[in-house]
Amino acid sequence: MDNQKKNTFYITTPIFYPNANLHMGHAYTTCVSDILARYNRIIGKETYFLTGADENTEKVVRAAKIAGEETQAYLNKIVEGFKDLFTKLEISYDQFIRTSDKNIHWPGVQKFWKLLEKDIEKRSYEGLYCVGHESFITEKELVEGKCVEHDETPQLLKEENYFFKLSKYSEQIKDLIEKGEIEIIPHTRKNEILSLLNNGLEDISFSRSTEKVSVGIPVPGDQSQKIYVWGDALSNYITALGFGRSDDELYQKFWPVNLHVIGKDILRFHAAIWPGMLLSAGLPLPKKILVHGFITSGGRKMSKSIGNVISPLELINEYSKYTDFSSEVLRLYLSRHISAFEDGDLTIESFREAYNADLANGLGNLVSRVMKMAETNLSEPVECGDLVFDTSFSFPIEAYNIQQFVNEVWEYIGHVDALIQKEQPFKLVKENKDKGVELITELVKKLHVIAGVLQVLMPNTAEKINNFIKENKMPDKPLFLRKN
Ligand code: MSP
Repeated sequence: MDNQKKNTFYITTPIFYPNANLHMGHAYTTCVSDILARYNRIIGKETYFLTGADENTEKVVRAAKIAGEETQAYLNKIVEGFKDLFTKLEISYDQFIRTSDKNIHWPGVQKFWKLLEKDIEKRSYEGLYCVGHESFITEKELVEGKCVEHDETPQLLKEENYFFKLSKYSEQIKDLIEKGEIEIIPHTRKNEILSLLNNGLEDISFSRSTEKVSVGIPVPGDQSQKIYVWGDALSNYITALGFGRSDDELYQKFWPVNLHVIGKDILRFHAAIWPGMLLSAGLPLPKKILVHGFITSGGRKMSKSIGNVISPLELINEYSKYTDFSSEVLRLYLSRHISAFEDGDLTIESFREAYNADLANGLGNLVSRVMKMAETNLSEPVECGDLVFDTSFSFPIEAYNIQQFVNEVWEYIGHVDALIQKEQPFKLVKENKDKGVELITELVKKLHVIAGVLQVLMPNTAEKINNFIKENKMPDKPLFLRKN
C-alpha cells in the first residue's frame, strides 16, 4: 500500500560526511527537513524522520590522519558534535544512522548488493577520482587539472572495480521522472536531471580494491573488494528501516520514502543512481525529492580561505545573550531568508537585521503588547486550549515552499500589528470596556493561532507564548532583546 493511503510520512536528510564539524549548509538541510517532519506529525501523519553520518569514506580517514587521531575515535567525536548541534537546533529525528554500524547498516547493504548482482560486473578501469566528490570525474570537469568545487587534483586510479550497469536504466528513470512518478521539486531541478538523462547515464564504479581503501563494507563473496561510497551511502535510507535484517517492521511500514531532502550537488546521485539501484533490485521507488540550493555568505561560497564561514554554533551562542530561543532565531533565518529552491545568502549583518525586524520588533514586540493588554484588562485567561496548526497556512508547506510558509506567518503577524494600530484597544477599553475586552480577547486568539503555526518552526517559542496565554501574563522580560 502506498504511504499516502497508509497515512505515514517518511522523510530523510542526506547522511553527512563526518570529516569536519557541520556547517551552515548542513544546518539548513536539516532544519528544512525538521519543519516538514514536525508539520506532518502535527497534521496526524505517522512520521519517521531519518538523519545520520556517511562514515565509510577515505575523506574521513584522511581527516582523522590530519587530526592525528585514530579513525574510529575521530568519527565518534565528530558524530557526537553532529548530535549536539541537532539537539540545539531542536531536530526531532527518530533515528541517527551511522554507516559504520555493522549491525544496523551492513547486512542490508550486502543483501542489496546481492539483489543488484545481475547488473554488476568486474571491469578493469582507469579514471580520475576526486575524493571531495567521492566519485570519478572527467577531464572536461577539470580547470587547470583541478576539480573546481574541491580545488584539488584528482587521483589517477587504475584498478579492477565492480561496475553497476546504470546505463541500462537511463530511459526508464527518465520516463519515471517525466511522468512525475518520482517527483523532483522544484521544476528547474527536474529539468536539470532530465537533460542529464537525455544524454544517457554511464555505468558507475561501485567498489574499490581492499588494498587501496581502508574502510568500507566487503563485497559479498569477494574479499579483495569493498563496496564504495554511493552504493553504500544511498542504501542507508532502507537499512535504517531494517532492510536486510529480521526486524524490518519499519521497512514494511515506511518504505517507499515520501521525501528525500537534498542539496543541489547530490541531485544526480539521488535522482539517477538511487532509482537505478532500486529498479535493478525490484524495490519501490522514492516518491519525491526536494532539492534546495546552497547557502552563500556575501554572495560567495562559505570558505575558510575567504574567511566568510559562519558557524551555526557560534551564532546560536552569540544570540543567547539576547534571547532564550537563540537556536530558533537560526531556524527562522534559514527558513525565511534563504530561498526555498535557489541559493541564499547569510552574513553576520543580514542575520542581525533579520533578528531585529522579525523577532525583537516583530513577534517579540507583538507578544508583549497583546499580553500586556490582556493581563491588565482581562479578569481571566482567554480559553484557547491546546496549540493547533491552522490549516489555512498549509498550502505553501504542502508545496514544500518553506520560505513562503514563513513569510505568510509573518504577514499575519504584521496584520495583527496593523489591527492594534488601527483599533487602538488600549484606548478603546477605557472608552467602552466591553468592546475593548472583546477586541483584546480576539487579539489573544490571534496570538494563539500564531503560536500554533510556529510549533513547526520555533517549537519552544510557541510553547512559551501559549503559557503566557494560559496564565494571562505578559512576559517579565522581552522574548527577543534588540541587538544593536
Ligand atoms: N554524504 C553525502 C550524502 C550522502 S546521502 C546518501 C554528502 N554529504 S555532505 O556532508 O557533503 O553534504 C550533506 C548535505 O549538505 C548535502 O545535501 C549538501 O547539498 C548540503 N550542503 C553542503 N554545503 C551546502 C551549502 N553551502 N548550502 C546548503 N547545503 C549544502 O554529500
